[in-house]
Formats: sequence, structure tokens, C-alpha cells
Amino acid sequence: MKKVIVILLVVLLLWVCLTLFTQYSGRGPSIPITSDHSSQNCLIVYNPDPFYNFDFLICDKIAEGLKTVGFDSQIMTLDKTKNVELSTYELIVICSNTYNFSPDWSTQKWIKEKNLLNKKTIAVTLGAGSTKRSKDKLEKLLLHNGASVIESKSFWLMKPNDQEKSNKTNEQVALEMAFELGRSVKLEK
Ligand SMILES: Cc1cc2nc3c(=O)[nH]c(=O)nc-3n(C[C@H](O)[C@H](O)[C@H](O)COP(=O)(O)O)c2cc1C
Repeated sequence: MKKVIVILLVVLLLWVCLTLFTQYSGRGPSIPITSDHSSQNCLIVYNPDPFYNFDFLICDKIAEGLKTVGFDSQIMTLDKTKNVELSTYELIVICSNTYNFSPDWSTQKWIKEKNLLNKKTIAVTLGAGSTKRSKDKLEKLLLHNGASVIESKSFWLMKPNDQEKSNKTNEQVALEMAFELGRSVKLEK
């Protein structure tokens, strides 16, 4: 019995270390994606993690989709947004990773600190495949902080994003869906 408890404690400790490492040690690019016929600006924010750049790839595809409907997008990691004036953006896409069934801590903190009153936002929840609670939490947090959530979507690394597209990799499917998400945006003026 003692052995089992020790093993469980070690596993728990390792999981806590992995969570802390993942939440705080990611690096990722911040880039502009401009449209030839731009009339609106979009800020896309994400908190990179150290393992794989699924978050950036999804942000990039959303920006490419937005480009086709006349948006200039600025993709930024959260740590680069300190001096960003949110009022210059008509739309904000918040792309959060899921850790232990919740949106990543930096994204939650960012939402609480920024003035999102009446801001049009799109909530994007990424994860291996279990994101329902995290997605709900992200939406609630945005609404609680006065934002208007015009769309909310999850994309998964492991769980099939679309059962019917089995001839493509799951990641390809997710990226195509992210592009469509961007392309479907139409803001009322
Ligand atoms: C400590 C830890 C906890 C995680 N918890 C969840 C979870 O609760 N639900 C889920 O769907 N994915 C979970 N994941 C997977 C990540 O959400 C997923 O790897 C990430 O969103 C994909 O981003 P990336 O490709 O940029 O790494 C977890 C990953 C780690 C490392």
C-alpha cells in the first residue's frame, strides 16, 4: 500500500512539473498576414508551448482564411501584446491550449487583464481531444469580461476533427477547418 502511494505521489509530482513547464516555457513567432483589400484588422493571440506548434499553425490558417475576406491579421504570442492597443482591432481571436481540462493560465490571465468590453472575439480551444470543459470555460471567461463571442471552436491533435475526412491526416483536417473558420467571418458594421 505504501509503495502504491509513493508511486502515485511521484506521478502527481511529475505531472505538476510537466504542467508548469508547458504553461510557461513556450516560444513562438509573431507575424503579420495582410490582405490586398484590407478593410478590417484582426489580432490573433496565442500562448505557445514547448512541444509542437499546433497553436501557431491553427492561428496561421485562421489568418489566411481571414485574409480572403479582407482582414489584415497580426498573430502575436501573449507576451508580445503588452503595448498593443486593442481598440485598433475590429476582431480578436483568442487561441488557447488546454491543460488539465482548462484553458492555459496565461490566456486566462490575459483575458482578465485586458479591456475586452464589447470586443468581437472568436474563442479557439486546442487540445489532444478532451476540450469541452476548457471551451466552455474560455467562452464564459470572455463573456464575463464583457467580450462578444461571435464564434467558438475546438481543434484536436488526436481526436478526429471530422470523421468523414479519413483520407487526410487529422492535423490537415484541423488546419482546413481553421482556414474555413477564418473565411466564414463576416462582421456587421
Ligand atoms: C500537462 C498537459 C495537460 C494536458 N491536458 C489536456 C486536456 O485536459 N485536454 C486535452 O484535450 N489536451 C490536453 N493536453 C494536450 C494539449 O492541450 C495539446 O498538446 C495542445 O493544445 C496542442 O498544442 P501544441 O501542439 O502547440 O503543443 C495536455 C497537455 C499537457 C502537456
